[in-house]
Order: sequence, then C-alpha cells, then structure tokens
Amino acid sequence: MKTIIEPFRIKSVEPIHFNTEEYRKSALKAAHYNAFLLHSDDVMIDLLTDSGTSAMSSAQWAGIMLGDESYAGSPSFYKFEKAVQDITGMPVVIPTHQGRASEKILFSITGGKDKVFISNTLFDTTRANIEFSGAEGVDLICPEGKLPTIPAPFKGNIDTKALTAYITQHGSAHIAMVIITITNNSGGGQPVSMQNIRETHHICKQHGIPLYIDACRFAENAYFIKMREPEYADKSILEIANEIFSYADGCTMSAKKDAFANIGGFLALRHEGLAMQCRNLLVITEGFPTYGGLAGRDLEAIAIGLYEVMDEHYLQYRIRSIEYLTQKIAAAGVPVMLPAGGHAVYLDAKQFLPHIPAAQYPGQALVCSLYIKGGIRCVEIGSLMFGKYDDEHQLIPAPLELVRLAIPRRVYTQSHIDYVAEVIIEVFKERQQISGLVIKEEAPILRHFTAKLDMI
Ligand code: F0G
Repeated sequence: MKTIIEPFRIKSVEPIHFNTEEYRKSALKAAHYNAFLLHSDDVMIDLLTDSGTSAMSSAQWAGIMLGDESYAGSPSFYKFEKAVQDITGMPVVIPTHQGRASEKILFSITGGKDKVFISNTLFDTTRANIEFSGAEGVDLICPEGKLPTIPAPFKGNIDTKALTAYITQHGSAHIAMVIITITNNSGGGQPVSMQNIRETHHICKQHGIPLYIDACRFAENAYFIKMREPEYADKSILEIANEIFSYADGCTMSAKKDAFANIGGFLALRHEGLAMQCRNLLVITEGFPTYGGLAGRDLEAIAIGLYEVMDEHYLQYRIRSIEYLTQKIAAAGVPVMLPAGGHAVYLDAKQFLPHIPAAQYPGQALVCSLYIKGGIRCVEIGSLMFGKYDDEHQLIPAPLELVRLAIPRRVYTQSHIDYVAEVIIEVFKERQQISGLVIKEEAPILRHFTAKLDMI
C-alpha cells in the first residue's frame, strides 16, 4: 500500500482550544511578539519544539508505575543504564535531568578559557554552555549545509576539509573536542552520514582530539543513513546506532527528543577517565549517580522509549510526515529548506520576506504571522537566536534566517499537518503585508527566550 499510516492508535486525547485571529493578535501583543512568552493554551498547534512534547506509549505509562524511587541503586536506573549501553556501547552512563545538564557537566570539566569546541553546528544551549565556560564554539558545516533550498542527502555533515585546515592552522592542543550534532538541529534537522562520522573520527584520532556525539535525534539520523547510504540498507537501526557511537568517546543526549520522554537526558562515556569528575559535579548539581536529576519513573520511561524509537515503522512514518509537509508547501512555492529534515520543517525567512532586512528579524516576523493567521506556534532560528552585536551595537546577522516548525512525536495527525500547510500557504500569499520587528528588551545570553519586541 502507498499510504503510510500513523503506527499507533490513540487512547487518550487532549483538547485543542480554538480562538480567533483577533484574540491571537492581542495575545501576541501581550507576549511582546515573542512566541516563548505566549500561554500555551492560546496556541492551537504547538510546533515550538519536539522536545519533551512527545506522546508517551502505553508501555511507557505502564513503566511509570514500575518506577522505583529508591535514592540509590534503583532497578529503574539499571534498566536505563542497560538501554543506553545497548545503543551506545559506552560503559559509563550518567543520568541528568535534560541534555543541557549533561553539557554543563561535560563542558565545566573540558571547557574554559582558550579552549575551542568544533562542531557541524552547535545547538543554541550547547553553544551557550560552551561560551559560559569561557571557551569558544566553532561551527564547520559542509558547504551544501549553507544552501537552504538546494537538496543534498547529508547536509548535516561537518566540513572535514575545514576541520583539517583548522587543525593545521591552529594546532590541536586547544581543541577540547569535536561535537557532531545528529541530526543537525540548527542547520535544518539535516542528517550526518556514517562516512562523515567515520572520517571525522579518523581525523580526531590522528590528532588526539576527543569526538563526542550530540545524540538527541540519533534514531532519526540512523534512519536517514539506512535510506541514503546504500551499504546500510539492510542494517537495523540498532546496528547503525551502534556503529555511529563506536566512533565517539562520549555523547550527550536529551531524552526529551528521540526517547519520547517528557524530561530526561544522559551523558555516556567510553572511558572511566572523566567519569569520576563528571559524577562529582553530578552529585552537587543533579543528584546521586543512579538517578541524576530524574525520578525512577522517568528512568523507566526513557529506557522503554529508547527502544521504541528504533522501530522502523515508526521512523518511516516520522520521516515521511515531515517530508509530506515540506513537499506540500514547496509545491505552493513557499521557500523551505530542502530536503526535509528529520524532526522539523524549516522555512527560509530570507526568501519568504525579502523586503524585511535582517536587523528587523524576518524570521520572527514570520513566526508572529503564522501565530496570528492560524494559531500555530513555531520558533525563529536566525538573527534573533544567533545574531551578535559589533562594537557599535550594529547587528551581525546570523548566516541563515530560518523558522522552524518542529513536529512533536506521535502527537498530531495528518489533518493537523494539512491545516499547518494551509496556514503557511495563506501567509505566503499575504507576505507583502508583513512588517519587521524591533527589540525593546533583551538578555545578554539566549535572548530569544525572553526578548520583548515590537512591530515596526
Ligand atoms: N542538543 C540539541 C541538538 C538540541 O536540539 C537540544 C534541545 C539540546 C542539545 C538540549 O537538550 O533541551 O534537553 O536541554 N533542543 C530543543 C529544541 C530545546 O527545541 O530543539 P535539552
């Protein structure tokens, strides 16, 4: 059969609160034109993030009841530890309350002044944690990853030539690690090929640089490898994941993505070397090593979710639903990142709203228009998120002005997705009437979360 169906039935539902365009205009004004400041019950389709927003399965909810809340040595931890070890092959498993807590622990030890972290693209909180330690983050995305609308199979790849050139020019002593983000969230949810991970591993090994994986969406990336790298066509997702992680010295993971959990994360390490230092920090910031920042019930839900996400029927449906939305709006002429990524659709706001300059935040203007038109909430990944100021307080724009519509896992049906496409296409037709924004108030780091803006 041609139709790919949702590989689940729905047992429990949540209502969507309907509202009007007039209502949404005033709600957005009250939220200072920042979608993070909206009340979520004023949102009809919430595509702000795929993080922590998954629908858990009946097996996960059953696992919640089995959660053992012992302070130390809980059986729930050992199930969690085994699942992470099965997938990553890494013996050291440190639970944390979410991905950025793993990053904070790892970078507090390996970062600091004069250190450099090189990546395909660092996610915003990852970069912020690196910079907070005093270190520098350097993104070396492959050339095709910089061209939003030109399709290529692995646009998330790190530029291995640029990596080698960087090492030749600067030496390796200051490079704390190379981090490969799979899939590349800030660069369109694009996958990284096994070949690229393997090559990066060889470069790192040759120069004694540790290689880490930011593994939030490891299963989605593994599925792309299966589909697009012919030698992996007959391998299982677990086998592909095993090989990915075999090239790394460690990984950080947000279980809020590909583990279908509402909270959680971990840091996994191949060598005991750093483990003691990490656990020492864990105890003072997160909790005892067998629960980290989590309840026993969360550990159970994650352990189950980590296996569920590797189901190929699920991954086929997942990747196809993102592609379906991408193709539908692309067919209507909407500038969208191609090919479709693994967890989200990325609109190219620079092309969508060419009349709005970067300093007036075209991505954020589009976010606001999609909310007003259809009650859809999404996020800007452009100059509001990544822009910096020069010495004269002039904006240095981000390289891309994207708007991300992240699809929560197992939450929305095909008609929700059809509705989203319709809203995007309507906004595209009326794009000339959209105006830019100005920032009224902002924080020094991660300003996009709390910034207050106004319409121009
Ligand atoms: N790394 C990547 C690639 C991410 O996408 C995220 C989170 C993190 C690390 C941090 O994980 O949220 O558990 O602390 N991304 C979310 C998003 C927030 O909306 O893309 P966390």
